Amino acid sequence: MLQTDMLKSFIKADTEIIDNKHSGNYISNLNFDVQQITRLLSEAYLSIFKDGLTLIGLLFVMFFQNWKLSLIAIIMIPLATITAKILGKRMGKVTTQAQEKSGDLNRYLIDLFKNHKIIKIFQRENFEKSRSEKFVNDLKEKSAKIATVYIRSAPIMEILTGILIASLIFYSGKLIISGELAINNFFSFLAAMMLAYQPVKTLTKVNVAISQGFAAAERILPIIDTQNEINSNEQGDKLNIIDGNIVLDKINFTYKSNPENKVLHDMSLKFVGGKMTALVGHSGSGKSTLLNMIPRIYLPTSGNIYFDNQDISKVNLASLRNQISIVDQNTTLFDDTVLNNIKYARPDADKEDIIEAAKLSMSDEFINNLENGYETMIGENGVKLSGGEKQRLSIARAFLKNSKIILLDEATSSLDSETEEKIQKALNKLTTNKTTIVIAHRLSTILNSDNIYVVDNGKIVDSGKHDDLLNNSKIYKNFYQRQLKQN
Ligand SMILES: Nc1ncnc2c1ncn2[C@@H]1O[C@H](COP(=O)(O)OP(=O)(O)OP(=O)(O)O)[C@@H](O)[C@H]1O
Ligand SMILES: [Mg+2]
Repeated sequence: MLQTDMLKSFIKADTEIIDNKHSGNYISNLNFDVQQITRLLSEAYLSIFKDGLTLIGLLFVMFFQNWKLSLIAIIMIPLATITAKILGKRMGKVTTQAQEKSGDLNRYLIDLFKNHKIIKIFQRENFEKSRSEKFVNDLKEKSAKIATVYIRSAPIMEILTGILIASLIFYSGKLIISGELAINNFFSFLAAMMLAYQPVKTLTKVNVAISQGFAAAERILPIIDTQNEINSNEQGDKLNIIDGNIVLDKINFTYKSNPENKVLHDMSLKFVGGKMTALVGHSGSGKSTLLNMIPRIYLPTSGNIYFDNQDISKVNLASLRNQISIVDQNTTLFDDTVLNNIKYARPDADKEDIIEAAKLSMSDEFINNLENGYETMIGENGVKLSGGEKQRLSIARAFLKNSKIILLDEATSSLDSETEEKIQKALNKLTTNKTTIVIAHRLSTILNSDNIYVVDNGKIVDSGKHDDLLNNSKIYKNFYQRQLKQN
């Protein structure tokens, strides 16, 4: 249930929170830490209950036999507690270190999977081998340290009990000689004390499990309790789109992870309903960031966005996102069938709708050539598909969703002219009469647009049609000459 809680909070977390998290560490939190906490809850509590009761019973017997001797024996308990405390503290520290190393190893493994081709091309196999050894050894070392801390504590306990037993026997001898203690009482006492030794020892160990469990909880709870900033406005009014006009009013934005770099400066733009507007500008100028403001993936630091005069920060978030489709720069797919990947855009769609969307996006032909057609598994993030095929699947999703607003972040990678043409055709069909905002890299897209905004360093520097801009905007002309002429 802890794992479910973690996953739930992860799924609803703001993109900005997820951006700053490492998948490897997160996996380690989910496995390693949850295991520690489970141990705390099951073993530790059971043992406190069982051994605690046994100990109380035995103490009772001891006092009944001879209270003086019992008092001496009880000195052992605070001593044991102190040792347990010190041990627990150290244990908490080393388990945290072990958890970090386990996170590093996961992180590295994910990198290996993702970059295996790069490793081969740059022939860095040996480098990676020695790196992998280091990651594994670091983790081993920390795990071994847990054992060391554990073992080291044992002799201290043994010595303490040894001294205690010796002094008890010595003192008992004196009591027996002076006639204060009968032999049979002494043996009953001794038996009870010997029996009490085991529960005390177990309880000391439990303290270690408790410390490890609490250290793990300290790492996990902040993850579960992370507060999202993006308010889903469940009670808010539903967005009502009539013309599909979008207005951005003085939008400023800075990524929290990089407060020095203000990405968007006072941007004010208007996107006319049912028309296509292009954003152009150099790499890193802030185009994708700006696009992400519209479905509220990121929140502007200041400024407002209106859809047909409705402030999107006030409307119901689900109703807002329901009206928007994104065809991203990098198509992202799930390791599932082709069918389910398209269906993701509208879970209640039936097979005819899906095939229709595939046809409109010109995906149908390549899908039918796959080994199992629509039921083909496409591999992690679509490794079994080509770049152009992935793009067409992502367009198919947008057709299926059939929303009134289309956000298009054109892929920078150029495809062969035949595929390019297919994608262009599919996009033209998709965007007809929809409010379309496209981050354009292709000249054909730009020529198709009803209006163009030129973005430079997070500011709107010019706007207009291609021909006007070519004559009036130095930045656009420069951009056109450098980038667009190439294709
Ligand atoms: N998640 C992020 N966290 C921190 N900084 C980011 C993040 N994403 C982008 N940036 C920074 O914001 C700036 C704008 O990036 P953005 O992705 O919006 O550029 P772009 O105009 O879309 O570029 P491109 O044409 O290459 O896609 C860049 O300086 C980038 O380094
Ligand atoms: Mg971009």
